[in-house]
Amino acid sequence: MKHALPVGVVVVAAGSGQRLGQGIPKARVLCGGRTLLERSLDAVLASGVAASIVVVLPEGDDVLSAVVSRAAGRAGNTTVVPVTGGATRTASVRAGLDALPPSAAVVLVHDAARALTPPEVFRRVAAAVAAGAPAVIPVLPVVDTVKVVDGDVVTATPDRGALRAVQTPQGFDAPALRLAHEGIHPADPSATDDAMLMEARGATVRVVDGDALSFKVTTPLDLVIAEAVLAREAAGPSVAG
Ligand code: CTP
Ligand code: MG
Repeated sequence: MKHALPVGVVVVAAGSGQRLGQGIPKARVLCGGRTLLERSLDAVLASGVAASIVVVLPEGDDVLSAVVSRAAGRAGNTTVVPVTGGATRTASVRAGLDALPPSAAVVLVHDAARALTPPEVFRRVAAAVAAGAPAVIPVLPVVDTVKVVDGDVVTATPDRGALRAVQTPQGFDAPALRLAHEGIHPADPSATDDAMLMEARGATVRVVDGDALSFKVTTPLDLVIAEAVLAREAAGPSVAG
């Protein structure tokens, strides 16, 4: 079912995957026999929220361009287009926003690296934006105690109960996010997510429940976990857990 407001989804997949260390862009890395990008795009399509999808790719990446073309072929009425990203995640998001149709009233920004994100999360975030929140982020409780440090000395221990770990897709009123992006230089590495650009402008950012499966494949261990999740799914419901 399509959303009441036209929803555009920007999937950022232009990173190089340094921490994964495979020597290829992370979106191209195989997980359960399929690329991380292919899995992410399937989740977006399965959610049914997107009128249009912009996929932000490393420059000249023919492998990922082909992944996008194949996704476009199974996307029905949803348009799926590739664009070239930039040197920072912020620059890549901006390239995606620039390529979104102006008719997209709501935009979801999603990391391709969160390849196992359940389709329900896209629906939850899109519904919260449609209900009037200018910015919506999916979050999880923080399980570890977190310290503030100065060098090798601890200076504070924030109340864990007030902390949340933040995931994507993050959802926004599209014009508001465009304005927020105009307020930062795309090369500035300090913006680690889009919601903080909205916070800086005084916008209310609301939280909805994230999902453990939306973890970002960042390190080799994350890939092992993702493979294990897929193997368990393939084994079917008879496997405990
Ligand atoms: N990303 C992007 N353009 C960049 C950097 C990141 O589109 N210049 C995307 C990545 O492709 C990823 C998401 O932003 O889907 C989150 O970034 P991250 O997990 O840091 O991915 P990489 O930057 O590829 O990994 P690393 O930092 O380990 O190099
Ligand atoms: Mg990175």
